[in-house]
Amino acid sequence: MAKIPYGPTYDEMLDPSLLSKDVRARALTALVNDELDPINLFNITWKDGSNQVRKIVLSSALTGVDANIVVMLGCGFPSGSHKVGPAYSTLIEGIVDGDIVPGEHTILGPSTGNFGIGTAYVSKLLGFRAIVIMPDTMSKERYERIRKYGGELELTPGSESDVILTLEKTRELMKHPKNRALAQFELFPNYRFHRHVTGNSALQAVKGIGNGRIAGFTSAPGSAGTLAAGDQIKAVFPDAKIAALEPYECSTLANGGRGQHRIEGIGDKMCTLIHNVLHTDFVILIRDEETVQGVKIFHDGVEALVNVGVDRNFAMSLRNLFGPSGICNVLGAIKLAKFLRLGPEDNVVTIATDGFDRYNSVLDDLNKRSLDLAPQVLERWTHDIFLNAGEDHIFDFRKAAIKERLFQQKENDWLKFGYTKSFLDSMRSQDFWDGQYAKVSEYNQKIAAAR
Ligand SMILES: Cc1ncc(COP(=O)(O)O)c(C=O)c1O
Repeated sequence: MAKIPYGPTYDEMLDPSLLSKDVRARALTALVNDELDPINLFNITWKDGSNQVRKIVLSSALTGVDANIVVMLGCGFPSGSHKVGPAYSTLIEGIVDGDIVPGEHTILGPSTGNFGIGTAYVSKLLGFRAIVIMPDTMSKERYERIRKYGGELELTPGSESDVILTLEKTRELMKHPKNRALAQFELFPNYRFHRHVTGNSALQAVKGIGNGRIAGFTSAPGSAGTLAAGDQIKAVFPDAKIAALEPYECSTLANGGRGQHRIEGIGDKMCTLIHNVLHTDFVILIRDEETVQGVKIFHDGVEALVNVGVDRNFAMSLRNLFGPSGICNVLGAIKLAKFLRLGPEDNVVTIATDGFDRYNSVLDDLNKRSLDLAPQVLERWTHDIFLNAGEDHIFDFRKAAIKERLFQQKENDWLKFGYTKSFLDSMRSQDFWDGQYAKVSEYNQKIAAAR
């Protein structure tokens, strides 16, 4: 009989100090020495070895706003992004429910990259064959990682905004009885992971900063899993404002816009099934080129940052912490703070999903496209992109009549995949989402019992 795989409960991912000292110590050692040791599943957490949320606080010298922009760092997760959390949660829920059987099933991961990397990674650690279904024009570092973790690739034509093709391909592959999909856009473990683990970690991350509360949360949805953190933030701070960010070039939520863009991981031309639009107060559009320029500034622009007043050591520490979607989230946080007129006591939380390690090729491309990248050019970009970020392209979705657009978008996107109108209508009540969240304790028990 296949060995029963094991890993952390939702509560242990939120608070790894609940683990036995031995498991925690072995996991932290493996994180540095042997990323393929299955004990690394216990490193799926926002917390560092001292049980503090991995985060940085951006100063007003860089952001131009008084509010504290608190960025939670996803690059410290095993496999290099927090997307490993939803991948693990979906797989482990399937295992404890008896729907996914080790030694019998192949795991499918529809993705634009990081979820696919996470799927290949947790499948390897738990002994499953994995097939990642993703568009064929993502950064080459993503494909390399998936192969490194033993994942097989099934590529569909197009880019980030053609992710619908990966969903259709996944549906086709699902016809094989031995295949099981970690369908991140429609399965609720993704919601549960981010509401419980990311949301509560965000609440802990602001302790001791400003007034210790959260006034705003910004996240650019791919699957919209990360946005679920906003549900937990609102549960504690009902006045907090949640902003979903989109590429200006692909403004599907804001106004049905559809186009190609360069911000890998987000802006997938849909309202995902697991997106709780009840809590989306604003949609803010961010220009894709600015996010790539922002990565250039953080990675190669220490002098430019120092010249605008950022501490040199802090500027150096930023080098490897951001990819374009992380910059997008920061730009959204700055715009939200400006729009809401937030002050020095206020905190806006956002997320850097992954780090620089998968974007060398994206910077190479920028370097080829740019005529001049002298330090003074990067300094000008710093002013244009960060310090002078405008309040333009902010769509207010707080009124019910306007919010209806998002419900309609969800219907357009999901009725065709067989979901009923009455099921989609049930999502118009917060009870639906709280019901999904309540299952966290059930799965805590099931996961603990299974091991
Ligand atoms: C780099 C990057 N940023 C942002 C996201 C969006 O996160 P979520 O799917 O939780 O909305 C993803 C998702 O894959 C990603 O890979």
